Amino acid sequence: MDIGSENSGGLDCFKAELSEKDFQVFSRYIYSEYGIKMPPIKRIMLQGRLLKRIRELRMNSYSEYKDYFFSKEGQEKELLHFLNVVTTNKTDFFREPVHFIFLNETVLPEFRRDSGNQPLKVWSAGCSSGEEPYTISIVLNEFERANPLFKFEILGTDISTQMLEKAARGVYAMNKVATIPLEIKKRYFLKSKDPHNQTSRVHPLLQKNIRLSYLNLMDATYGIQETFDIVFCRNVLIYFDRPTQERVISKLCMHLKKGGYFFIGHSESLSGMDLPLEHIKPTIFRKK
Ligand SMILES: C[S@@+](CC[C@H](N)C(=O)[O-])C[C@H]1O[C@@H](n2cnc3c(N)ncnc32)[C@H](O)[C@@H]1O
Repeated sequence: MDIGSENSGGLDCFKAELSEKDFQVFSRYIYSEYGIKMPPIKRIMLQGRLLKRIRELRMNSYSEYKDYFFSKEGQEKELLHFLNVVTTNKTDFFREPVHFIFLNETVLPEFRRDSGNQPLKVWSAGCSSGEEPYTISIVLNEFERANPLFKFEILGTDISTQMLEKAARGVYAMNKVATIPLEIKKRYFLKSKDPHNQTSRVHPLLQKNIRLSYLNLMDATYGIQETFDIVFCRNVLIYFDRPTQERVISKLCMHLKKGGYFFIGHSESLSGMDLPLEHIKPTIFRKK
């Protein structure tokens, strides 16, 4: 495959293959530092994802990129770009809607009854481009409309700075917001005045109580002093192996209040793990 010929950047001697050996070096690194499994079957996927970066950097081969990446300069300048390309960030508004129904019908009334005037604190761990924390914010804003004394704070964290920037912008393609009920959309999303601009911006109301920040769930400690009433860690654990999942959830539980709720994705399971959580419903747990 002659990539150079279709690229005016003059990468004529581009070596278009990520060798097994170089793949293994990246794969071991991604797993040990970020917990993300990268089995041999993902080599072509990684090769494809790194190609854009290699072109941007006007490099000639994957091995040149690898040497740069692991150099001191590469670790300082390239790491965040690398994380942006290796992470899988699929997400949606109201993804797995049973969680938001449970939040609204069970968790919030319970919280109003028991909490005094404390703010409800929610953590969206692995928040990707923001659809999850903004969905939580919609549910909590709606609850606040009916309960004016109710207060809340949401923390969204991820390792992809590109996704965190997208979350902070809060601007989404129309097809991303298409399935949100009309009444909610009218209240919490702003259409562009330009008819050619097919995007929708979240209303400042949805952003006012959200903090977004870089956090690697593999870090030994999270540098977070507070504890949360609810942790969402959905569709993140699937990229980790079971021992890593158990370690990460144990650490997340240290930041969950007693009686606090923990939500995982529908294709994830905690069965057989030694965790301070009791099972409430499929994918919904509570700290003992
Ligand atoms: C598939 S998205 C899930 C987004 C959202 N939670 C949902 O369920 O729609 C997974 C996210 O986890 C993030 N992620 C992967 N490994 C991580 C790690 N070690 N620490 C923090 N976030 C991580 C990815 O960057 C990605 O944005």
